[in-house]
Amino acid sequence: MIDRTILDQALSHVRGKWPHARPRLGMILGSGWSEVIGSFNVKDAISYEDIPGLGKTGVVGHAGRLVLAESAGLELLVFQGRRHFYEGVGWTPIALPIFLLKSLGAKTLLVTNAAGGVRKDLVPGTLMIISDHINFLGANPLVGAHDSFWGPRFPDQSEVYNASLRKLIVQAGQNAGETLAEGVYLADSGPTYESPAEIRAFAALGADAVGMSTVPEALLANAAGLRVAGLSCITNSAAGISENPLSHEEVTETTRLAMERMKKVLLNFVEEVARERR
Ligand code: HPA
Repeated sequence: MIDRTILDQALSHVRGKWPHARPRLGMILGSGWSEVIGSFNVKDAISYEDIPGLGKTGVVGHAGRLVLAESAGLELLVFQGRRHFYEGVGWTPIALPIFLLKSLGAKTLLVTNAAGGVRKDLVPGTLMIISDHINFLGANPLVGAHDSFWGPRFPDQSEVYNASLRKLIVQAGQNAGETLAEGVYLADSGPTYESPAEIRAFAALGADAVGMSTVPEALLANAAGLRVAGLSCITNSAAGISENPLSHEEVTETTRLAMERMKKVLLNFVEEVARERR
């Protein structure tokens, strides 16, 4: 259940600190993505610990700061680090970024993550536009009493990842000299990585990449009326595809190596969104 009282407290806190903030575009930066903030002009930041309901991320590679930034004339609200279902602290911290963004007037959200490559061509270092997802969390953040802030009782899932934004990311990739892959992201609950048999099963289900996040935020934002785009950095071949055991160190090391490319793509993506609005 999402606790609306805590979300309202978080909003008051952020509005109190940044009374003039009117972000157009939001970003949630997942594992290893935090450093892309270096591409933007940072205006100010609040530690997650100071925001009611958000708290410490506790995951290495997740900075835990809310950043107000600017790029290409657009005001950005960037969540440097995310909270996960496997942390077992409920949906409120996961829903909080979406609640703040919508309440502050943002229209567009980019969610990023690190993911394992299920499809064989998705080798480590590949950047993959999320075309659709499979919710294999075994849970849904919208279970509970209906709150119309999050859209209708039964939100449509036909196009969670907005088609025009997907085109803008393709263009952003080209401008950055990158060919981006595209695929279906499956989220399981974690915190265990998958077994090889699970990966074979997920491939048969139609998954191209696998991870432990993103789906809750994307479905909430889409239901709440934001346009959503998703981008994964494939940090490892999924279990059983590579011979190696999986580790979080490998995940953060791959994003470190891909950082300059990730930065360029995001910078170009913001430019494309800014151009679209001119
Ligand atoms: N599985 C789940 N989550 C992940 C992976 C993976 O292989 N890589 C990065 N996050």
